[in-house]
Amino acid sequence: MEVFKDTSIFLGKFIYYFLESLIFHMVPRPKKKVAGEIVLITGAGSGLGRLLTIDFARQGAIVVLWDINQEGLSETCRLARKYNPNGVHAYTCDCSKRLEIYRVAEQVKKEVGDVTILINNAGIVTGKLFLETSDEHIEKSFLINSFAHIWTYKAFLPAMMAANHGHLVCISSLAGLVGMNKLGDYCASKFASFGFAESIYFELRDLKKHGIKTTIVCPYFIKTGMFSGCTTKFPALFPLLEPEYIAHKIMKAILEEQVYLITPKLAYLTLALKQVISSKMALALGDFLGVFDNLKNFQGRMETDKVQTVAKIHQ
Ligand SMILES: NC(=O)c1ccc[n+]([C@@H]2O[C@H](COP(=O)([O-])OP(=O)(O)OC[C@H]3O[C@@H](n4cnc5c(N)ncnc54)[C@H](O)[C@@H]3O)[C@@H](O)[C@H]2O)c1
Repeated sequence: MEVFKDTSIFLGKFIYYFLESLIFHMVPRPKKKVAGEIVLITGAGSGLGRLLTIDFARQGAIVVLWDINQEGLSETCRLARKYNPNGVHAYTCDCSKRLEIYRVAEQVKKEVGDVTILINNAGIVTGKLFLETSDEHIEKSFLINSFAHIWTYKAFLPAMMAANHGHLVCISSLAGLVGMNKLGDYCASKFASFGFAESIYFELRDLKKHGIKTTIVCPYFIKTGMFSGCTTKFPALFPLLEPEYIAHKIMKAILEEQVYLITPKLAYLTLALKQVISSKMALALGDFLGVFDNLKNFQGRMETDKVQTVAKIHQ
């Protein structure tokens, strides 16, 4: 009897959500308002972080910017203040350091208030063959690309839980869903951030904290400079993405409270195929799509070197 009841509930929900998603393919989903929300964006000093900051400021949100790069932060601040002159707060924070994250988080709570939208965006890539990547670089990838997400959740989630209100945004990557050569540490750290964000999403649902939303973002290569030199064999199928386009998609996903954003859409098909076809067929497909050659001309950005230099200034 219990099995019959459970199956009916499952089928009812499945059909309801299927029809709902069909309808929302035809009409736009309602979007939430973010004016007055306190939005913290890590890695706001350039690329996606800068674009998201400007867009949130434009929509009347109070934005809190974190980055290790002071020059980049100042520029983002200047651009965002055009839209919200009194609602932009910038802090230098090295997200590879747990205690620094906790210290700056406390400062933000005192000076600005409780963060209601947390966007873990700061990231680095080394882009070397595994055995050519130093232990220090590997550790740094994990500290920034994954551990920082955990410490920022620790710092800001309790207030969201108390208010049952908030939004957690994880900028992972398509490299957080499939492995790629020359990206061993990057992929592993992005898989970790994806797994962490998805687990907390399930945990919050279980705790009935339905007011706290989650969005996990997994884009293909974006032309922000992070992966400069990388190529794509079929630009029509897997284009190198424009930063403004991705920032717009991320903003839309947040406002529509979408849980997963995997882009481009064709990636869904290849990810599904990978699970059902044989590993040899998957490799043949990868060879055909040129995915193993994407990083042939990518020398690695050595972002960690830049990070260390700036960190010295900060100390
Ligand atoms: N560019 C791509 O192709 C691509 C693709 C998928 C996912 N992503 C992810 O998107 C996010 C944004 O990347 P982007 O393309 O805008 O690159 P970006 O290099 O322009 O931005 C990364 C930002 O993180 C900051 N940062 C680095 N180390 C830090 C530290 N220790 N503490 C604080 N801030 C630090 C940098 O100063 C920089 O401002 C990253 O997490 C990246 O992994 C990028």
